[in-house]
Amino acid sequence: MTQAAEKSETLSLEQLTQNAEAEISSANTVDAIEAIRVNYLGKSGSITSQLKTLGTLPAEERKTFGAKVNEIKNAVTDLISAKKEQLESAALNVKLAKEYIDVTIPTATEKQGSIHPISQVIEEITEIFARLGFTVAEGPEIEDDHRNFTALNIPENHPARQMHDTFYIKSDDKDKKYVLRTHTSPVQIRTMEEYKKTGKLPPIKIIAPGRTFRCDSDQTHSPMFHQVEGLYIDKEVNMGMLKGCLQEFVETFFGVENLNMRFRASFFPFTEPSAEVDIGCSRKNGQIKIGEGTDWLEVLGCGMVHPNVLKMAGIDPTEYRGFAFGMGIERLAMLKYGINDLRQFFESDSRFLKHYSFGSIDIPKLSSGW
Ligand code: PHE
Repeated sequence: MTQAAEKSETLSLEQLTQNAEAEISSANTVDAIEAIRVNYLGKSGSITSQLKTLGTLPAEERKTFGAKVNEIKNAVTDLISAKKEQLESAALNVKLAKEYIDVTIPTATEKQGSIHPISQVIEEITEIFARLGFTVAEGPEIEDDHRNFTALNIPENHPARQMHDTFYIKSDDKDKKYVLRTHTSPVQIRTMEEYKKTGKLPPIKIIAPGRTFRCDSDQTHSPMFHQVEGLYIDKEVNMGMLKGCLQEFVETFFGVENLNMRFRASFFPFTEPSAEVDIGCSRKNGQIKIGEGTDWLEVLGCGMVHPNVLKMAGIDPTEYRGFAFGMGIERLAMLKYGINDLRQFFESDSRFLKHYSFGSIDIPKLSSGW
């Protein structure tokens, strides 16, 4: 190539660069900048095609020309990406400005959320038992028939299965039947199994609040309701400790010191002995007052964990024993807050919620000192 020819190539490269620079600086959208990139640096872009001419040049020119084109290519690439970044951040700023939310504007009071009485009572119960050293455990609402019944010493064809009005779930698995758990007691089994599996040793001290289901609906029954289970397993656990623990619970929950409480002999397949727990109350003009009078009101079921249950969950009943209890949350909420129809909890009637729900700062916390 002659000196003149080389000059013209160089000039045209310079021209190309100038054009690119001008176009890049006047581009004002991300799409425009992308079009410029394709025009110059794409497969058949003008800078790319300069590189393709390299092969036609004599060897001695190839090097300098190649270096020059590469330099331009890098410079244009850098300009494009800087401009693209600039345009993208400008676009983001526009978008953010459009979506600006003034978080300091107060919520319209009628839209303020509140705590459902069931959530509130779960929180209260959890706080009381936390103070007594219980942690919270959970289990699934769709439970296998084994953990809901068999492992709790309720074998197939046991009449207790009928008592539970179970919702059975269709399953293709012939060996595993599923139910909507009829109580929170299967969480006892799951917790013990977890200890066994991970090699952890008792003490086990948990409560398990959650949803439960039975095919039953009237003023005092709902097909979906809530229970809290309690389980304490250790070497020296006895019925007196169970009674002390529950006495502390009912007094704190209802806010009545020295509340009368009695154990009435009962039957649950998974506890032996079993008891139902009553608290003292008065019943006047259809009103129940807790802590007054000479009447009794049943509030929960409990007992010493049946050795068969411990054995089935892999805990040696000759070394360990435990107590368990289970209570209905709706019932406790109704008694404490004077709600007379259980179905109201789940009707989402805003008048009910307005009256019976709690503000978020009412949630009891251990730190609040009560
Ligand atoms: N699971 C029992 C019920 O739903 C309650 C219970 C739990 C009783 C634990 C004893 C021990 O009625």
